[in-house]
Order: sequence, then structure tokens, then C-alpha cells
Amino acid sequence: MHPMLNIAVRAARSAGRVITRNMHRVDTLTIESKQRNDFVTEVDRQAEAEIIQTLHKAYPDHAFLAEESGQQGDSEFVWIIDPLDGTTNFLHGFPQFAVSIALQVKGRLEHGVIYDPVADELFTCSRGEGVSVNNRKLRVSKQKSLSGALLGTGFPYRNDQELDIYLETFRQFIAKTAGVRRPGAAALDLAYVAAGRLDGFWEMGLKPWDMAAGALMVREAGGLVGNLDGGDNWLKKGNIIAANPRVFHEMLQVLKPYAERYA
Ligand code: IPD
Ligand code: CA
Ligand code: CA
Repeated sequence: MHPMLNIAVRAARSAGRVITRNMHRVDTLTIESKQRNDFVTEVDRQAEAEIIQTLHKAYPDHAFLAEESGQQGDSEFVWIIDPLDGTTNFLHGFPQFAVSIALQVKGRLEHGVIYDPVADELFTCSRGEGVSVNNRKLRVSKQKSLSGALLGTGFPYRNDQELDIYLETFRQFIAKTAGVRRPGAAALDLAYVAAGRLDGFWEMGLKPWDMAAGALMVREAGGLVGNLDGGDNWLKKGNIIAANPRVFHEMLQVLKPYAERYA
């Protein structure tokens, strides 16, 4: 394992311990609302502090882009961190949440870790080296078309999101596939595409820390990642399609007409 990935794994596991330690005392946590339906707890903050401390100790010159503390430092090496993806699930005791850490070097994603502390599943990847869960290699599914596919998605939940347009896309995928799931942690949704558990995933309005590690995993597992018109600026735009190549192309046909409305 690359030394930088190794450190990221250490950081993700220690954040995972912060999360599991607090999992059964959610009632006692201080919960703040960043905006409507966007919550943060001391667990998110502690987990993030733990990650940054571990990475900073090993790489004092590297920069950070982290959900709770924002941008810190200036470097070709940028760690993109979501200390707890799926906070709403966490607050409800719904066991689908994870730690997500990616390293971008000169603007290119190089390493990624996603850790689900409940299932104790550690997804890891490095560019050109493939992706594994608990050391078992992963490939995207072999599903040949949307017909029969199982897709993941995320529903719009903030006031500024275009619910009606989203619902049009949702309606089409419900009609064309075997099913659509909304598990509630985008990083894990992407890891599941890499693992072939989902054939594809789409969501609009995401942040870089929701997508960075998981998107590299999908690519490393042989899948494709793009924005709604198939372009490459999904990390900036926040709208993403990720799927095995065949399902990706069919999803793109459905989503392309909406790309301009999400410009
Ligand atoms: C959220 C989750 C969710 C997605 C939201 C994200 P958070 O992240 O990934 O699945 O639909 O858009 O904000 O806030 O729990 O880290
Ligand atoms: Ca998130
Ligand atoms: Ca989060």
C-alpha cells in the first residue's frame, strides 16, 4: 500500500472510532443546523480534527479541504475530507454512514479511503492500482443495461435545489430500472458502485468531499464518472453520474437533456 494511503487509512479508522464511540449516545449530542436539513454535531467536528491531526503530523506541508473546517494551507497536495458522510442517518441510528478521505495531487485524484465503521468495511484505492474492500479487489457490475439495473441516488433536501427537475429524472429511472435506492451517504453509494452492489448512481448538488474518494474508486473498478452531460468537471459542479460503462451511457441519455438546467 502506498505510504500516503496507509496514513489515510489510519486517519479514517481513528475517525471511525470517534463515530462508533458516540453512536449510542446520539441523544446527548449537541446538534447544530448549518442550514435547513443540514446538520453538524460535535462528532463530525471531532472526527475531522482527528483526521487532520493524523495527516498533518505525517505531511505538515499538505493542504486540506474539509467539510467542517474548510480550506487550510496551500499545496499541490490537497486532502479532501468528509469526516462523517451521512450525518442525518447517524443522528437517526440508521446504520449507513462513513468517513471519506481523498488525496488530490496537482489537481488529480490519487488516493481514496472510505470507511464504514458499522459494517467495518474499509474501501481503499490508488490511481492505477485498483480498488479493494478489506483487501478484496472490486470491479463494477456486469449489468448490461438500465433494464434490470439497481441504481442509487440522493434526493434534493436543501431549499436551493431544483426538486421538480430532479423528480423528472427520478420518474424516468424508476420506470426504466429494477429499482432505485436512497441510502443517504453519497460516499458509500459510490463505493457500492465500485463494488458492483449498485449498477449506477446519480445525484445533483454534491460537494467535493462527498464525491472525491468514491469517484476514484468507481474509476479504479472499471466504471465511468461524469457530470450530467458526460463532461469531466463534476467535482466542481457537484452533479455526478457514476456507473459501469454500459449503464453509464444509458444514464447519460436520460440525464443529458437536464444538464443545461443544472448549469
Ligand atoms: C450528505 C450525504 C447524502 C447526500 C447529501 C450530502 P453529509 O452528506 O452524502 O447522501 O444526499 O447531499 O450532503 O452532509 O451527511 O456529510
Ligand atoms: Ca457528505
Ligand atoms: Ca459530512
